Amino acid sequence: MAKAAPASVKKEIEELREKLRYHEYCYYVLDDPEISDAAYDRMMSRLKELEAAYPELVTPDSPTVRVGGAPRAGFTTVRHARPMLSLDNAFSYDALREWDRRVREGSGQDKIEYVAEHKFDGLSISLQYEDGVLTRGVTRGDGTTGEDVTPNVKTIRSIPLRVDPAALKKVKLPPDFEVRGEVMMTKKAFEALNREQERIGGKIFVNARNSAAGAVRVLDPSITAARRLDFFAYYLLLDGKVPFAKHSDSLQALKQLRFRASDDWKLCAGIEAVIGYCEDWDAKREKLPYEIDGVVIKVNSIAIQNELGYTAKAPRWAIAYKYPARQETTVVNDIIVQVGRTGTLTPVAVLEPVQVGGVTVSRSTLHNMDEIDRLELQIGDTVLIERAGEVIPHVLKVVKEGKSRRPFRMPKHCPECGSTIHHVEGEVAYRCVNAACPAKRKESILHFAGRHAMNIDGLGDKIVDQLVDKGLVKDVADLYSLKLEDVAGLERMAEKSAQNLLKEIEASKKNSLARLIYALGVQFVGERTAQLLAEHFSSLEELAEAKEEELEEVPEVGPKVAASIVEFFSEPANRQLIKKLNKAGVHPTAEKRVVKSQKLAGKSFVFTGSLANRSREEAGDLVIQHGGKVSGSVSKKTAYVVVGTDPGSKYDKAKELGVTILSESEFEKLLGL
Ligand code: IVH
Repeated sequence: MAKAAPASVKKEIEELREKLRYHEYCYYVLDDPEISDAAYDRMMSRLKELEAAYPELVTPDSPTVRVGGAPRAGFTTVRHARPMLSLDNAFSYDALREWDRRVREGSGQDKIEYVAEHKFDGLSISLQYEDGVLTRGVTRGDGTTGEDVTPNVKTIRSIPLRVDPAALKKVKLPPDFEVRGEVMMTKKAFEALNREQERIGGKIFVNARNSAAGAVRVLDPSITAARRLDFFAYYLLLDGKVPFAKHSDSLQALKQLRFRASDDWKLCAGIEAVIGYCEDWDAKREKLPYEIDGVVIKVNSIAIQNELGYTAKAPRWAIAYKYPARQETTVVNDIIVQVGRTGTLTPVAVLEPVQVGGVTVSRSTLHNMDEIDRLELQIGDTVLIERAGEVIPHVLKVVKEGKSRRPFRMPKHCPECGSTIHHVEGEVAYRCVNAACPAKRKESILHFAGRHAMNIDGLGDKIVDQLVDKGLVKDVADLYSLKLEDVAGLERMAEKSAQNLLKEIEASKKNSLARLIYALGVQFVGERTAQLLAEHFSSLEELAEAKEEELEEVPEVGPKVAASIVEFFSEPANRQLIKKLNKAGVHPTAEKRVVKSQKLAGKSFVFTGSLANRSREEAGDLVIQHGGKVSGSVSKKTAYVVVGTDPGSKYDKAKELGVTILSESEFEKLLGL
């Protein structure tokens, strides 16, 4: 039997939820956080901890539900209380004037007040609130029935899980209502997603709308959570009707209820003002953080809206003005390869220059080899390209095969430095792993000097740019042979600061082995892995000789990391670099970890879910300090699986294999904490 929750706990939970709700609003709706991420995380962990201890106090509107529940088997379809209609489109200003004429005729008014708003390019969603709490999120579907995607929409932070009763009172709205709006992905989140997909060799998304729509319509809410979606509200309904006299009142009420609604709508005194708004935003839309594909124009008066009514598929009181598509066809004259700052090779189409939406386009990224295969693209083909926002243009499809087309192949050698290109069978990325490749040089020097790496204060990007451009530094080892006159000769460098920089460089020789390993910038070797490697190997030379099996003996090092380390040290240029560093006096030796006891000797631990009193990494450190091991996956050899809140599939695996499961407090007991 669970113990009953004391009143003080209930109070603390309520207060935490209140605060978290407020800070989510500041961060996700207003874009104006008042506290640090760490402070937010602390509050969230405390709430999770209390909810874990008193599960009977968990409510469906608690901020903790945002993390995403378990995947589901399928969607249920739901009938909309009121159909979610689509809008008629207008593709020219004359079509807008024509629509305005019909509206005036239909309503018998001389002049109509309109609201012009952005047409958000996303996925429309209906949100049902009961008693002020979000109970259901449904996609538009065919307009009559949609899919119930409630757990997914709950992960979208700009969607309130509950609304403040005081705010409802203020706008005179009862607590059962419906909000409609658009789920979107910002351009930044979309580009970051594709960069990550490019890196891991995943599916490349064509545009922000597709990736947002895909993220809402997945069965696993943790995918929705990871895609960082936004929601813009534009419609409020009470019993299927607009509860205000004007549409602009709805937009204002939505903001008061702390929904994210655009501030960029405008009241327009007639159709010419509307056209002015469309022109204005056509010029400005590139600068918006999200995509809009047009302008939605609505009659402001709800009484006139009702008078005008609906056709079978769309309201007569609204219309969507669509901006001309920014697509064009052109010929792919060549495909070249660019080496990114991490060494990944990216194929780029060299296009016959073409105007797309007023901008000349002559290049377009093809992301990776898989994308070229998917497009079935060859050099000489005619393609359809699209430019959306400030995003780099991309190839949508091949429209005509070239007469003398020829396939593209990834080069065997790096176009920048000539080193052999590495490609793991079955993976998408082709990479140059030479740490001194000129394409990566500046970036790798900056990484080497970084605060968490060799911590060379004063070696910022302006200085690195000059050192590399003047040919003074070709690789990180060259830093150690810089002379005062070299450095003092740089722009923005007084003699005093030059001396300081040299002192900093000299001092960095004393850094730990862990820092040096991290500083080399081996793919997948972050600070923590570097630390664990430094505790296992006694020098950089020993690490460089290690085979994959040996590397995998290091806690938390799996096959992917081990392969990346072996790949790095197999590159002759990198081995040369290590020798050079050694000669320059950079040769730290191992730090052995403090061993406090051997009470966990031979025992392997797996952690899943979030722990309340420490991070999983800190818990792992404790295990190692007491002679145990930490592993990333559960097997029959696992001695214990420590389960926190929201555990993942490792928990199920542990149950299936009959591995002993510990709560965080049982884990603490085992360690005698
Ligand atoms: S109002 C009955 N306002 O565009 C009127 N829709 O092409 C309901 N959309 O299905 C829609 N931005 O998904 C409205 N500011 C906005 C919008 C908007 C985007 C979407 C919505 C609609 C589609 C029609």
